[in-house]
Amino acid sequence: MSPKRKLHIKSYGCQMNAYDAQRMVDTLAVEGFVETDSADDADLVILNTCHIREKASEKVYSELGRLRLTKQEAAGEGRQMRIAVAGCVAQAEGDEIIRRAPAVDIVVGPQSYHHLPKLIERANSEGRAIETEFPAEDKFASLPQPAPAAIRARGISAFVTVQEGCDKFCTFCVVPYTRGAEVSRPVAKIADDAKRLADHGVREITLIGQNVNAYHGEGPDGATWSLGKLLHRLADIPGIARLRYSTSHPRDVDDSLIAAHRDLPALMPFVHLPVQSGSDRILAAMNRKHTVRDYCETIERFRRARQDIAFSSDFIVGFPGEKVEDFSATLALVTQIGYGAAYSFKYSPRPGTPAAEMQETVSTAEMDERLARLQDLINSQQSAFNAAAIGTTTDVLFEAPARYPGQIVGRSAYLQPVHVMGSAEIIGQVLPVRIEKLERFSLLGTLAAPISHDRPAASQMTIGA
Ligand code: 5AD
Ligand code: SF4
Repeated sequence: MSPKRKLHIKSYGCQMNAYDAQRMVDTLAVEGFVETDSADDADLVILNTCHIREKASEKVYSELGRLRLTKQEAAGEGRQMRIAVAGCVAQAEGDEIIRRAPAVDIVVGPQSYHHLPKLIERANSEGRAIETEFPAEDKFASLPQPAPAAIRARGISAFVTVQEGCDKFCTFCVVPYTRGAEVSRPVAKIADDAKRLADHGVREITLIGQNVNAYHGEGPDGATWSLGKLLHRLADIPGIARLRYSTSHPRDVDDSLIAAHRDLPALMPFVHLPVQSGSDRILAAMNRKHTVRDYCETIERFRRARQDIAFSSDFIVGFPGEKVEDFSATLALVTQIGYGAAYSFKYSPRPGTPAAEMQETVSTAEMDERLARLQDLINSQQSAFNAAAIGTTTDVLFEAPARYPGQIVGRSAYLQPVHVMGSAEIIGQVLPVRIEKLERFSLLGTLAAPISHDRPAASQMTIGA
């Protein structure tokens, strides 16, 4: 038997990249690769890159600078190390990467991971291999299933991709160019994946897609199914205690998704619904296809369906043309909604997007100041949201041993880490916990006597700002 080759993957960016990294591991496991934690002893290092903001992209080149030295050291020891760049930087920049970083052997776009074994062979024979096409074939169909041992090793919470790509074309965003047009997987394949995961110990599934609620997959009845209908189907799979989905677009929240939140106790009441700005003028310039009022009405529809629902969001400050009044409108919107968590970014022009052609009007100093003010507001909301859990009894899905002996960590419905003293037996179970204390971003509590509920006990919590 040939000796195992070692693979190290460093993944940046979104959940889709984390998922893709696992698929690459699964594809290469079939070829005899085993994962290693360090690049130093790897035969193949893959950087799974993110192109969403300038900073994310630049990180790749500094990492490649370090890897060039590691590759030289390996060669000095008589070992050949291959370097591959995958993900959205690979897709967007293609052979430009090799020009800037000649140590790179393979460049592979997100549509082509199933071709990795072939690309490695080509790099071995020709010295280099690049594939960044959007193939017409079904990428999803050719991905290998993870082995049962791999599923178990990855823990009780797993991602399942249901859709990829985006047709929305927000003017600041590279995703429609790096990930291509929206494609949805058929319901039967998603349900098979979910069942297989559940059979091997997974209790929580997060459905992922660049625009997940644009899902329109083929149902077993031949009709097109929405995300809401898909969630109803998945909630029936024995063993699946929790369902989540990410990331959603406010325009694509249909009645079936609202109904899923109303009807399915397994569907967690925590929704990531990016709005980007609180100003209609800026939303129009961003081509978001919704107004502030549309967004607020959508939030209300969710809240009417499930009172304990909470939201997180993404914001961009300093978009071209953003005036002080526009930024104030963003602060006002955040104050009005009251988020459980939110992510905010300084606008960075991305090559090839319409906004990159727009005149930038907000100075770096002004952007820094706006970002700091927005983050202060978001942080205070998040702290208040976390503090509101103290004194409540809330359901926690236990995931793993924590840092301290005898301590187990899990997550609330709102993804808050919760620590309790308990035995490892509780891992994989959803149990009510009396929350006693907040320590930084983590809640501390004690296991409460089991209480019976027809929906997660998290519904007892007081929500919002
Ligand atoms: N500049 C700053 N932030 C961006 N995002 C996407 N593109 C850009 C950009 N060009 C942010 C958006 C999106 C999140 C994933 O990243 O807020 O929702
Ligand atoms: Fe990018 Fe807009 Fe699509 Fe989200 S909806 S991935 S921000 S283009």
